[in-house]
Amino acid sequence: MKRARIVGTGAYVPEAVLTNRDLEQRIETTDEWIVSRTGIRERHIAAEGEHTSDLAARAARAALEMAGVGAEDIDLIVVGTITGDFPWPATACLVQEKIGAKRAFAFDVSAACSGFVYALDAAVKQIQCGAVRKALVIGAEILSRIVDWEDRNTCVLFGDGAGAVVLSAEEGEHGVLSTHLHSDGSYWELLYQAGFGARNPATAQGLDARLPYLKMQGNEVFKVAVRMLTEVAQEALAHNGLQVEDIDLFIPHQANRRILEAVAKRLHLRDEQVFINVDFYGNTSGASIPIALDEVNRAGRIKAGDLVLFDAFGGGFTWASALVRW
Ligand code: ACO
Repeated sequence: MKRARIVGTGAYVPEAVLTNRDLEQRIETTDEWIVSRTGIRERHIAAEGEHTSDLAARAARAALEMAGVGAEDIDLIVVGTITGDFPWPATACLVQEKIGAKRAFAFDVSAACSGFVYALDAAVKQIQCGAVRKALVIGAEILSRIVDWEDRNTCVLFGDGAGAVVLSAEEGEHGVLSTHLHSDGSYWELLYQAGFGARNPATAQGLDARLPYLKMQGNEVFKVAVRMLTEVAQEALAHNGLQVEDIDLFIPHQANRRILEAVAKRLHLRDEQVFINVDFYGNTSGASIPIALDEVNRAGRIKAGDLVLFDAFGGGFTWASALVRW
């Protein structure tokens, strides 16, 4: 069976930065509250006219360039997103057109903040079964367009951006060693966007009721996120016969610093094993893991043979891990 190896990474975040101080001018909040509760200091916000597919295409081009792979060599594009350009067609199809990946088939995956790991799993399986040789996996989001800027409980948490990896079918020991995916739909109402889909189609009353905006019960999400992120990481270790000290780099979904520190503590991870950059991007949902991965990769922090563990949790609820030998 072929392995799916990550041969290039890329990321793109919009230019505009919204700091906590900026937010103090718009809503009743403080930099101190946001930093102490979440670790977030600033986030990037997409410009008017800038679309999720634009962010995704920029991240994809950077990953292709690093990999030395042409867009025409890509067989498959999977985008993990909950803020695609349109309900349909898939943002992956728009990316395919933008980057000129003429031979690729393309689809989106909706798994909220677990979207990138779910998308990675889908591409890995296509490679393992021999249907695909080269794939682009992208996490891309413009959360700023679905958060309620009048709700201080949620609007301080999120940011926009995209990250991408190029996967190549290879023989040998390097590549994705395992993926584990889980869902529990009984939690859907703790974190969701009520409108405007087929259940609550667009109406003026729906807009007044603020249905198109993200709703979250933060305390409940926090508790389940810590538990599931811990359990799915332990599942990956046990499946691969590894101990926590074998992990060179733990890249969790960048939800907020308190969640990540709680998970790291439960797993007995050392600080230097854990990568956190939520301070500068906020929670970019499906984009957070590939943005973080690209940052550490370009900083030269990952060596060939290193074991890198991705750990994700999001709306649905969904949660997932992927273990990679670099
Ligand atoms: N500025 C100032 N005060 C605020 C703000 C704000 N931005 N937001 C809420 N508050 C107030 C509340 O109104 C409340 O005031 P009250 O006691 O007078 O009612 C007080 O702060 C405490 O509110 P809590 O909700 O108890 O605050 P908590 O310490 O739980 O922190 C937070 C809230 C940060 C949302 C936390 O619950 C959390 O991190 N949850 C996880 C949510 C998350 O990360 N979701 C992302 C999607 S899922 C994922 O990515 C894993």
